[in-house]
Amino acid sequence: MNQGKGQTMWGGRFAATPSEIMDEINCSLDVDRRMAEEDIAGSRAHADMLAEMGIISQTDNEAIQSGLDGVLGELRDGSFPYRRELEDIHMNVEARLKELIGAPAGRLHTARSRNDQVVTDFRLWTRSALDGAGALLAGLQGALVRRADEHAGTIMPGFTHLQTAQPVTLGHHLLAYVEMASRDRSRLADCAVRLNESPLGAAALAGTGFPIDRDMTAEALGFARPMANSLDAVASRDFALEALADLSIAATHLSRLAEEIVLWTSPQFGFASLTDAWSTGSSIMPQKRNPDAAELVRAKAALITANFSALQGAIKALPLAYAKDLQDDKRLTFEAFDTFNLCVRAMTGMIETIRFKPDAMRAAAAKGFSTATDLADWRLPHPGHLMGPQALFASPNKWHSGNRDCDWSNTMKRPLLLAAALLAAGTLSACGLTGDLKRPGPLWGDPNAAIDPADLPDEAKSDLPPLPERESTGTQEADDELLGGADGN
Ligand code: ARG
Repeated sequence: MNQGKGQTMWGGRFAATPSEIMDEINCSLDVDRRMAEEDIAGSRAHADMLAEMGIISQTDNEAIQSGLDGVLGELRDGSFPYRRELEDIHMNVEARLKELIGAPAGRLHTARSRNDQVVTDFRLWTRSALDGAGALLAGLQGALVRRADEHAGTIMPGFTHLQTAQPVTLGHHLLAYVEMASRDRSRLADCAVRLNESPLGAAALAGTGFPIDRDMTAEALGFARPMANSLDAVASRDFALEALADLSIAATHLSRLAEEIVLWTSPQFGFASLTDAWSTGSSIMPQKRNPDAAELVRAKAALITANFSALQGAIKALPLAYAKDLQDDKRLTFEAFDTFNLCVRAMTGMIETIRFKPDAMRAAAAKGFSTATDLADWRLPHPGHLMGPQALFASPNKWHSGNRDCDWSNTMKRPLLLAAALLAAGTLSACGLTGDLKRPGPLWGDPNAAIDPADLPDEAKSDLPPLPERESTGTQEADDELLGGADGN
């Protein structure tokens, strides 16, 4: 469409209309229409402030406010007449306001430029998007915690280098992702705090001569304060960059979990299967259940990182202050949030419904010498430490997840006892290694922690054979030497 002249805010002084291709490259409406409600909120706050400061009349403000009600109604009921030739949502809203209320609409733009208007809307949008993404992550955490609780006693092999290392529990494994998601959420929340300053009043780049009240608009929009520097206000997009970096890190965690689902549901692992709702089949290989959603999460994590990188590339060589390059920040940011939210929803759905196969996990844990380290540790006493198998269960609460209902001692202690009892003790007798067992410290946790045998679960007292004392080599170094030096993991 090529009807730009006279319709845009700036068309009046141009003799010819833009080329269609110019329209095409310049138009951001398809993307920034998502900020329509933020735009109206910003305009309301600005008009109220202009009236309060006597810059426009109260009558004009009333007309503007009720006209904006009308525009909002149209946006919500789908009757808003979007016009691509008006370039972006900001000019669309203002043009529609003018159609509805006439002359007072023109006074709304007093002491404001699209440069501070756009970035105000964008900050508002990003602020609530950060909240939304954080809430979805909390939902995923809830699903992980529920499944972890259900599988607090499910023994599985723990891996390093994807090789069976030591037995862990599925509960403990899943809770690792809960921890990652906690940090991801705190990064998102942190970003929302840092971005929460108002750019309004910076106008095009150098502020305005009108006696505006920037604190008033900042407060009305829920910002903590106005931004200190007007050039920074219109030029900076590090808030969006930071949000994308945070999403990229969080998506990396989703991708690792997705990869585990792909591995675990493969026939070779056989640790889990996805329900019909979360798998696809093959038309020519009926035996297959493909973990497509997990694979797509894995791929999409890279797309989010790519958007972060693209935005950084768009910004890094921009001289101050505003340049149209900054129009593409919205597309990259909206897309990253959409992709991220979809990935979190998919992961939540998969985690809620995936069917774990405890028998297969336990059988895999029994293979591959997964208790070799425990056996070695058991045989080597360290002076000054409590000895014996009970040390396996010492300091369990070192891993206690205090802020949620998951006690490490419940998720780990019982099953590790079983792992040790079933796997290690079995191996012990098979190998004739029944004597001389002292244990230097807990498998994980502070090796110097005092161990109170009263803390032990009953199984620990009954399931393992009594173990005689064994003399230490006398020094930690000598014991480490016997163990083959530092842990190469
Ligand atoms: N749609 C534009 C954007 O998102 C609006 C800003 C236009 N400012 C200007 N000086 N041309 O950045």
